[in-house]
Parts: sequence; C-alpha cells; structure tokens
Amino acid sequence: MKTSQCLNPTIFVIFGGTGDLNMRKLAPALYNLQADGFMPKDYAIIGTARSKLTDAQFRDTIQAGVNQFSRSGKVKKEKWDKFAEHVSYNAVDVSAPDTFAVLKTNIEKIKAEFGPKTQVIYYLAVAPNLFPLIAQCLEKYDLAGDEESCRIVIEKPFGRDLETAKALNKLLTGIFTEKQIYRIDHYLGKETVQNIMAFRFANSFLEPLWNRTYIDHVQISVTEQLGVGDRGGYYDGAGAMRDMIQNHILQLLCLIGMETPINFEADEIRNKKVDVLKAMRPFGPEDIRFSTVRGQYSKGWVEGKEVPGYRSEKDVAADSNTETFAAIKFFVDNWRWQGIPFYVRTGKRLYQTSSLISIQFKDVPHQVFPAGVTEHWQQNRLIISIQPEMSIRLQVQAKRPGLDMVLNPVDMVFDYKGTYSAQAPEAYETLLLDVMLADQTQFMRADQVESAWELLMPVVNAWETKKSLSFPNYHADSWGPEDAEALIARDGFHWFTLPLKNED
Ligand code: BG6
Repeated sequence: MKTSQCLNPTIFVIFGGTGDLNMRKLAPALYNLQADGFMPKDYAIIGTARSKLTDAQFRDTIQAGVNQFSRSGKVKKEKWDKFAEHVSYNAVDVSAPDTFAVLKTNIEKIKAEFGPKTQVIYYLAVAPNLFPLIAQCLEKYDLAGDEESCRIVIEKPFGRDLETAKALNKLLTGIFTEKQIYRIDHYLGKETVQNIMAFRFANSFLEPLWNRTYIDHVQISVTEQLGVGDRGGYYDGAGAMRDMIQNHILQLLCLIGMETPINFEADEIRNKKVDVLKAMRPFGPEDIRFSTVRGQYSKGWVEGKEVPGYRSEKDVAADSNTETFAAIKFFVDNWRWQGIPFYVRTGKRLYQTSSLISIQFKDVPHQVFPAGVTEHWQQNRLIISIQPEMSIRLQVQAKRPGLDMVLNPVDMVFDYKGTYSAQAPEAYETLLLDVMLADQTQFMRADQVESAWELLMPVVNAWETKKSLSFPNYHADSWGPEDAEALIARDGFHWFTLPLKNED
C-alpha cells in the first residue's frame, strides 16, 4: 500500500523548474500529493533553471501553474503556504557547470538537516539535448549518489532513434545503476492504464479467452483534437511515431499482449512487457507499404473556429515531411497472438479526443437465430476507455424487450464516475510517488526502450527518407487520412469509436 509513512526524507531537484512541464504537471502533482498527505514529513523541492530568481519569485511562478493546471483547482491558502515552505530555487546552467557546486552545497545543507536516510531525486524536465550534459555534471560534482540515496528521472523522448537511445542508455548507465534510472512514460501512471493489469490478472474469467482462439483483433486508438500548438519546434523533429507510438502506444500494446507475470515485482512485469516487444513481427518493405499509414493535417474548422494546417503552425517547416498521424498494423508472433492483428492509430487535429482500446472477440461458431432476429448483430467487444471517459465496457448481445425475439448489442459498463466518488489522481502524482518509493514497475527499463526503437526503426527510416507527396492528406476535425480507413477495412474491420456525449 502506498503511504507517506514509509517514505524517507526526500529532496526533489527539478531541472527545467520554470518550464512548461513543471507548471502543468510536476508542481501540481507535488502540491496535490502534499495536500492528500502523500509527501514525507521532511521534503524539499529545489527548482532549477538558468534564470536568476529568488525563492519567492519561483514560488509565485509555480503557484500560477498550480492554480491553472491542478486537478483540485486553485490552491487553498493554508495548504499552499505549507507546501511553499518546502520550495526553493537554485539557478543552474550547464554552460556554467560551477553552478552545480552551489546546488551541491544546498543539497548537502538540507541532507544534514534531514538525516542520513535522505534520498535525492533529480527530475530532468528539460530538452533532450540537455539529458547527457546534466547527467555528466551530476557525476562531475559527485551528486550521482548510490542506489539507495539517489535517483534520476528522464522524460521522453528517450533518444530519437535506436542509436541515440543506446548512446543515452550507455551514458546514463556509466554514471547511475539501472535501479537509479526512471524513464518516465506518463501513460503508465494513468489510473485506467494501471487498471488494465488489475482487470486482466485479478479476474479468472478473462484469461481463458485472452488469446488467438477467441480474440479476432485489437485496436488501440489515441486521438487528439488539439494541433501541435506552440510545440512545433519539438514536434517537427519528432512526429507521431516518436511522440506517441514508440512510447505510450507500444506500452498499451504490451499491457494487452503480455503473459501473466508470476508476481508484481518491477522486473517481472517489465520482463513480460519486453517479451511482447521482442515477439513483434519486424517490418519489411512490403509491410511498410501495406501495414502503415502516415498523415499530416491541413487547415480546417474546429468548433466554429478556423485552425491552421500543420505546415503553417509556429516553428514548423513550410514543406515539413513530419507525420501528425500514424496508423500501423502490428503482429505479435507468439503462441498467444499468432495471426491476430493489433491496429493502432494516433493523430493530432482529429475529430475526437479519446484514448481507447477495443478488443473484438470472434463471432459465435454457429448462428442459431434466424436472419431477422440478428439484424443488429455485433461480435462481442471489450472496450477499455482510458480517457476522457474512464470505463470498461463489455458489449454483448441481448434480447430487446418485447413480444418478438430481436437481438441487439448492449453494454455492460464499469464506469469510474458512477462507481467511485474519489477523484482519480493525475498520472504524475502516481509516478512521482513511485519514484519516492523506489518502485520502478511503471517505468521503462533500458531494454524496453531499445526494443521499441528497434521494432520501429525500419518505418521511421522509410518515412524519413521518402518524403510524402500527398501531405497534407487529412483535414483538421476529420478522422485522419482515408488510407487509414482502408488499412483496417481491407481486413473487414472499421475503427471503433465511442459516441461523443452529445451524440448519444
Ligand atoms: C505527450 C505528447 O507525451 O502526450 C503529446 O508529447 C501528447 O504530444 C500527450 O499530446 C498526450 O497525453 P495525454 O495525457 O493528454 O493523453
């Protein structure tokens, strides 16, 4: 059970303290952990960035972030004052490494006050080109500590291809042990994502059905209404493949595809996930042609407002070849999944914001009902809706009430809102608490990251070397390029969506 009781005194050092991630996610998460009683008795948060700020200025900056982005709304004065006492600021600049010496003095001072069990967590909420530089400075100034006392959290993207991911792993593991490295993928901290394992491995009825004999195909669809906004500078060098598929979506696929672990230990769970990645069918040139689709949005209208096409977004090249949409058909070549397609799609500026997994079961082996009765026939489906609706639905056939025998599909629904009154914690709350508890279960191990890159590299390379002549190929507010419909329609399926609330 997660509790602050077993937490050692903790110092959080946040690199990129004035950045977007701290404002939107980290500071609100730490504030809510404190408000809900999950921070240790002794803790300190040191924000670092290049700007010269006083502690008070830094506290004001993050208070504005918490006010705007916290799930619990604006800060409550009493709770904020209590939180703010733990927050300080330390200007640090990798191009002036002696600023790390000042940081070291500050950390040592706090450690002396908190005692020998104090743990130090370095959170790298910075641009990826700074990951190696900061890690090297931590080593140089003897701040990397040991397995017990010190951890480093690395945000995605972890490398921009297999080679750079390997190089980063090599550099980090030369300074830290694997037990100290927390490669974060915030999808793994989402309540509904964590529930996939609970649902699969705590219910006996599912396991006998969870295989190629009973499952027809799997869909994982993470669609977003928003465009790239002001992240064009980052996104144009990344694209949907690096931004979403290499990490979030493959992690979801692993949770659906993995074998039953023998226990809930971090390495056991991660071994089972790596097994899925290793079993995934490599892409040859023909597969890239027939099993992958890329897209880029053009301008359009969203909720009555005109929105720009991708190539007109801020910091995006006017002839950009970057994909803002990707759809891929994967196969997992093992006994459980042989021959069963896993279709995934993700994109920006799509019609609906929704993350869901649909598992379609095979049809009944023999139809006993006459044609008229089964007009609305639908094979059974299990739908795990990650967001915005948080639910698990089992679609089954049932008799419609009335004198005639008419069947239609109905949903058996587990809806978080209807079942629990407590608000679910944000993914970052769960994950930051896990780092404090030294629990790596929901973090990516080096081999996981590398296996995911290895699988995707042929597609990444092909898309990069061969410019798309059809870009932009989908309108804002659509479901993406037509080819993505064709990808799945060729196999006799269609992309599953949940109706929007106002479409019910
Ligand atoms: C991030 C991506 O990792 O995840 C973003 O960089 C994306 O491009 C975001 O919008 C989606 O996360 P969520 O939690 O809003 O689904």
